[in-house]
Amino acid sequence: MNAQELVERAEAVAARAYAPYSGYFVGAVAVARDGRVFEGVNVENAAYPLGLCAEKAAIARAVAEGCRPGDLEAVGITASPCGGCRQWLHEFRVERVAYRNVAGDVVESTPAELLPDTWDLPA
Ligand code: THU
Repeated sequence: MNAQELVERAEAVAARAYAPYSGYFVGAVAVARDGRVFEGVNVENAAYPLGLCAEKAAIARAVAEGCRPGDLEAVGITASPCGGCRQWLHEFRVERVAYRNVAGDVVESTPAELLPDTWDLPA
């Protein structure tokens, strides 16, 4: 999937978000190197900090199906990923990340561009 297709697929998924508190529906897709596509949406909670971001949900779903860091070729998101999700994208060594920016344009980045000078747990 190219960047446009990734974001459009994420936008279709966003309709299933559970976001009664913010009203902000986010969708994401994680595409594995073997072609499998994992969908995620944001899932909010009345205890606000417990909410889950869409891209984390998509990656968690991929992991539950056996994916590990290096197995995800691309992630598409309806919006720019938050700071915490950028750390997840880095950890899973996602090759490219496509999203719709605040200007409404589809853009594509690498996790390193999104989160420079990244932190890793010292070996
Ligand atoms: N959200 C995401 O799902 N992904 C992001 O990267 C940014 C924020 C969600 C979390 C919350 O449910 C809603 O957007 C408003 O913050």
